[in-house]
Amino acid sequence: MLIKNFFISLSQNQLLNSLAKKYGTKLGARTIIAGTNIEEMIQSVKELNHHGISATVDNLGEFVFVKKEAIEAKKQIIRVIEAIYNNNADAHISLKPTQLGLDINYDFCLNNLKEIVEVASNYNIFINFDMEDNSHLQSSFDLIDELSNEYNNIGTVIQAYFFQSEDNIKKYKNYRLRIVKGAYKEPENIAYQDKKDIDRNFIQLIEYHLLNGKYTSIATHDHHIINHVKKFVKENNITKEKFEFQMLYGFRKDLQLQLASEGFHFCTYVPFGSDWYGYFMRRLVERPENINLIFRQAFNK
Ligand code: FDA
Repeated sequence: MLIKNFFISLSQNQLLNSLAKKYGTKLGARTIIAGTNIEEMIQSVKELNHHGISATVDNLGEFVFVKKEAIEAKKQIIRVIEAIYNNNADAHISLKPTQLGLDINYDFCLNNLKEIVEVASNYNIFINFDMEDNSHLQSSFDLIDELSNEYNNIGTVIQAYFFQSEDNIKKYKNYRLRIVKGAYKEPENIAYQDKKDIDRNFIQLIEYHLLNGKYTSIATHDHHIINHVKKFVKENNITKEKFEFQMLYGFRKDLQLQLASEGFHFCTYVPFGSDWYGYFMRRLVERPENINLIFRQAFNK
């Protein structure tokens, strides 16, 4: 718990964040970040596609408090959508509302998102709204509710650690949903803290959406959960077209390839860009062993 809290406080440190941006991905982040620009990202996506794996692309960045930065992020995401289309890449978009100005002003953020979703809709590209910490949960769902009056190329994430996710999965069952354990530190009056409780709820939510909902993205590196899902879909005659597995770029590459070669739909979350610090630190919070992976990359040059 001490290590977890240590990395969480580092992940929120603004000074370290700006230093990380300045000095690029030299500290080993390149292992888990698919490049710093669109060309490198497309190359990484094409490589995955070559192995029968699709991608969900995240232009890294979050918790933006300056309008100019949010507008630049919007323009960059639109460039990413165009690059996906022009390169005929098998990929869609993941984005974070706080990168598009949710902490600045709700309507400003809504308008930025509208522009992105509109362009993506013209190219028939799906947009997934990543879910952030609890302070942005309700406003993110509000954005999705408003946008889905006009567009049907959007979906979101349900985080298993929240007590309220059981209600949310029922409310959003007609959406394409990614189900995850949850990556932020949340208080115990609203979220499960114990791994056993989170895993139990995670399985319940996955099973609910597989049986009652639209397309399900099961996003985890946990082979226990993956094996459970494989058994569950077989027993319930759920076809492979109804779901996919997702993992983060650079993690458990052998397992990613294995699942794809077994004929499961597989989608890798591909983060790219210079704003990698918060994302990178959350990966250390989840699994301090990840630091081995990162150090190996940093010193084996
Ligand atoms: P967890 O970290 O609980 O590990 C369980 C077990 O799996 C480990 O004990 C180990 O046995 C095995 N394992 C895990 N990683 C391994 C590795 N690298 N090598 C070997 N064994 C390993 N969160 C959020 O709040 N909002 C979001 O929008 C998203 N989006 C998202 C997209 C995608 C594609 C993924 C994969 C994850 C997210 N997350 C997220 C993060 C998610 O909530 C969660 O924090 C992480 O995925 C970590 O939990 P896991 O389920 O992967 O296993």
